[in-house]
Amino acid sequence: MAYTEQKKAEGKQKAQPTHLCLARRQFLIMGAASVVSLGVIGPRNAMGQVAELVMGAWPKKVIGTVSELETAKAIEFSYPNDDINNLLFMLSEEAGGGVGPDRNIVAFNSQCPHQGAYLDGSLFHSKHSLLGPCPLHLSTFDLTKYGMVSSGHATASLPQITLELDGDDIVATGVMGLVYGYSQNPTS
Ligand code: FES
Repeated sequence: MAYTEQKKAEGKQKAQPTHLCLARRQFLIMGAASVVSLGVIGPRNAMGQVAELVMGAWPKKVIGTVSELETAKAIEFSYPNDDINNLLFMLSEEAGGGVGPDRNIVAFNSQCPHQGAYLDGSLFHSKHSLLGPCPLHLSTFDLTKYGMVSSGHATASLPQITLELDGDDIVATGVMGLVYGYSQNPTS
């Protein structure tokens, strides 16, 4: 092989990552469905290993039923601890991490990731699938995009509660993102 061709080949080899490093935002963009399916793939896949770290230790808990959901109404529930409040939504459009036939059932933690203000169900705007503005500094979160900030001071997405369905039951299976005030999320 000519010298220049050999150098090009070496450069390509160096460009290949030896491990996969995911920024939090990139990871959230993958979505709960991707996370779960990656977790199934197993430890051969680096992304699967990340998924196991996020999903592995969470208890499952029935938090509501599909039949009780309405598109304009948020339902409160606690998970994974009794003192961690969250909101369950049925959106009018498909959402990242959504479950159900229309992939529009999602849940998020109720504490703003900026400085922990409480976001109650009255801040849900079903027409645009937004939660906010936060009463303290006006952050608003897009519930179709894994709770990403759509405006305001917050720099982190709203933690999303991952869900699965068991018949009519809606089951919480984990938390994507760090609940405000915790250095690591509680697991029970
Ligand atoms: S606490 Fe919500 S934007 Fe600051």
